[in-house]
Amino acid sequence: MSAKLLSPNALARSHAPILDFLAPRTLTSCTSSISRQRRRHQSTTPSPPTPDSAAASGLNPPTNAATPIHQLSEQQRAFLSSALRVNQTGELAAILIYSAQSPILTRSHPHLRPLMKHMYDQEAGHYKFFNEVISKHRIRPTAMTPLWTAAASFLGWSTAVLGREAAMACTEAVETEIGTHYNEQVRVLLDWAQKCGERGESLGPELEALVGQLRTIRDEELEHLDHAVENDAKEARPYELLTEGIRAGCRGAIWVSERV
Ligand SMILES: [Fe+2]
Ligand SMILES: [Fe+2]
Repeated sequence: MSAKLLSPNALARSHAPILDFLAPRTLTSCTSSISRQRRRHQSTTPSPPTPDSAAASGLNPPTNAATPIHQLSEQQRAFLSSALRVNQTGELAAILIYSAQSPILTRSHPHLRPLMKHMYDQEAGHYKFFNEVISKHRIRPTAMTPLWTAAASFLGWSTAVLGREAAMACTEAVETEIGTHYNEQVRVLLDWAQKCGERGESLGPELEALVGQLRTIRDEELEHLDHAVENDAKEARPYELLTEGIRAGCRGAIWVSERV
């Protein structure tokens, strides 16, 4: 049964678990008392934490029934909404850039077809993931989507027309900024996890899973950056102007999308 379809009182009666890390406090407070009652009646022994795997992930031991889940503050919810909104529109832009570049690039450089398809497919997977996340948590997409859509398609087309090196320089610049953006989110979430651990709380299974998903996506973006450099991104002319201009554009788009 979907939590979205129930009022707080009906939800409390349903005993349905709230897994939505952006759920309003009124919903989570209803269910936290239920959870406490249910925990008191649980006869099973919580599974022991696994310090090695927890340390390797940078997170506290995995959430179990005995660990209270941290209730996000308004500020933390606002951070997640902004970050996830940017992630969704950024992945759409990446798809559009590769879609515009691929036909032009692969016509003159057929050997790039598998690489372009590989990067496109990964971006499509990222977009699908963040689309599902913002839909599930009812985070509004940025109002700038139409403008970013046009800008990303133009960026992809124009850099491909300039040549293979310029197209790769575009990828290098975009992935540098988006990799930094994902890194910042991972850093913030790990900081929250550490502070939760100090209070004997956990971030909860959804946010803990999100940290892992953000790391995977960040690593794939950095892999794209490496592919771009391997394919002569730094031979583009004028390299500095091109990459610095695109990076500044990405930072501006991120800043605006966080707010609008
Ligand atoms: Fe991506
Ligand atoms: Fe990427």
